[in-house]
This record gives sequence, structure tokens and C-alpha cells, in this order.
Amino acid sequence: MRTVYVNGVFCPETEAVVSIFDRGFLFADGVYEVTGVLDGKLIDFSGHMARLRRSLAELELREPAQEDKLLSIHRQLVEKNDLVEGMIYMQVTRGAADRDFLFPADDTKPSLVLFTQSASLRDKPAAKTGLRVVTVPDLRWARRDIKTVQLLYPSMAKMEAKRRGVDDAWMVEDGCVTEGSSNNAYIVDAGGTLITRPLNHAILHGITRKAVLRLAAESGLAVEERPFTVEEAKVAREAFITSASSFVLPVVEIDGTTIGDGRPGEIATRLREIYIDEALKTAV
Ligand code: PDD
Repeated sequence: MRTVYVNGVFCPETEAVVSIFDRGFLFADGVYEVTGVLDGKLIDFSGHMARLRRSLAELELREPAQEDKLLSIHRQLVEKNDLVEGMIYMQVTRGAADRDFLFPADDTKPSLVLFTQSASLRDKPAAKTGLRVVTVPDLRWARRDIKTVQLLYPSMAKMEAKRRGVDDAWMVEDGCVTEGSSNNAYIVDAGGTLITRPLNHAILHGITRKAVLRLAAESGLAVEERPFTVEEAKVAREAFITSASSFVLPVVEIDGTTIGDGRPGEIATRLREIYIDEALKTAV
């Protein structure tokens, strides 16, 4: 059984309790981060904490603890659960208050919950076979840059992908791909240029995205941050996704159309390798 963290206490997962009045439960009034773990170390921890602070600030939510305290909790969870490879999920909500659309008084204590998930991140079959995706309309709210816990639509999109017999969904707005259900989306055009959507309110500012774009530029790839259409994606040389739990994974089919020769692209495969090397070197 896992040891989890809830509001100051490490306890067995079956004993962890959050109030039914918690605004995370009633209003999805909370934000989260997922940090990857390799060899028992945290990948890009400071990046995740910087984004957490930004999400909290955008929602006028109090910071539950300083970064060094959060790092210590993450590390203790890794240790208590003998976590070698997987993720740590951290959620901060506005805390428990009587149900009211207005935010509660400033002294309401935010809730802080963390738990581990053991998973194989390095050896993923999809890295060799590639993912198949379908497109769905992006019906999420308009502040996708804030990493809130309101994940119902991404969950519905993923179910739609499953019903259609594929791995994931790419969401589309005004003819252009925004992002995957829980990852950022990229294509490589015929000329070898890496294309991904620019950072604004339309997408989550992926921590893996930032690292991968830097590594791509450092390895001499041309990078263009602009929206791309579904049609462009279908005739791309390569397509791939990034996230803290998938790193870089190739996409080989979009809405039944084969991308490239139907096998994981060279650039996606190389970026996956470089990213994992770099993650191992810089993990804390
Ligand atoms: N999802 N876009 C969306 C909508 C996401 O939910 C995520 C992450 C990303 C990638 O961000 P990052 O590289 O920082 O993980 C992009 C996490 C992993 C999740 O919900 O499990």
C-alpha cells in the first residue's frame, strides 16, 4: 500500500481524508503538477514548481508551502514508497469552505495532497510502435495555460479515442491542433522544421515542451512556434507529443491517415533519447 501526503501528514492511502467541502471537490477549484521520476530522482522539479506558482497566482490561490518544503515532501514520498520510476502527483486546492461561488476568506487553508504512481517511463512500447490519434473539437475552457484539476473534457476526449480504437485524442480549434488530451503536440514538416503551437492561453505551457524545444534548437533543428492545421499534420514527415509522463512519443497516425512511413520518426526518436539523457543528468 502506498504512503501518501495529505495536509501535513504522511499516511497509508486508505487513511487519507479530504473534506467533502473542499473546493477542489465542489468547484474543481485547484491546480496540480505531475513530476516524472527516473532512478528515484525528480525530473525538472524547479520547472514544475515555477508553473505551479504561476497557476496559483492566476487563480489568486495561496501557495501551500515554499519550494524547498515541497521538494522535501516529494523526496520523502519517493523514499517511503521506494519509487524508482514513475510520477508524483501534487494537487493544491483552495481548501474547505461553505459552498459559495465567491472565494472564501483569505485565511482559508489550501489543501495539499501528493501521491506517487509507479510506471515504466523509459521503456514504453509506444516509443517503438508510435501512437495513433484521432482529432476532436477542443471544448475546454479558454484558460488552458492554468493547470487546473478540471479534466473532465480531456477525459471524455480520451474515452472517445478509446471508443475509436486508438491511443489518444488531439484537440482542434479553428482548424488548428491545440494539444493532446494530456500532452503538447508537434509536427515536423517536409523541410525538417519542428512546428508547435506558441504559448498563450490556448494550451498548457508544458515543462517537457520547454526542455524539448531547447534541446531541438541546440541540436540544430529549425523550430517554429505557430499553430498548425490538421491537414498540415496529416502530410507531415513526423508527428509527436511531449509530457512529463510520456517524455517524447511519436505519433504515426492521425484520423486514420498514416504519418510518414507509419513508423516512429527519426527526429522524435532522437529527441526522446536526448531528452531522457538530459533528464537523468539534471534530475534532483
Ligand atoms: N499532463 N498539455 C496538457 C493539456 C497536459 O495535461 C499536459 C500534462 C501537458 C504537458 O505538460 P508537461 O510537459 O509539463 O507534463 C500538455 C500531465 C502529465 C497529466 O495531466 O498527467
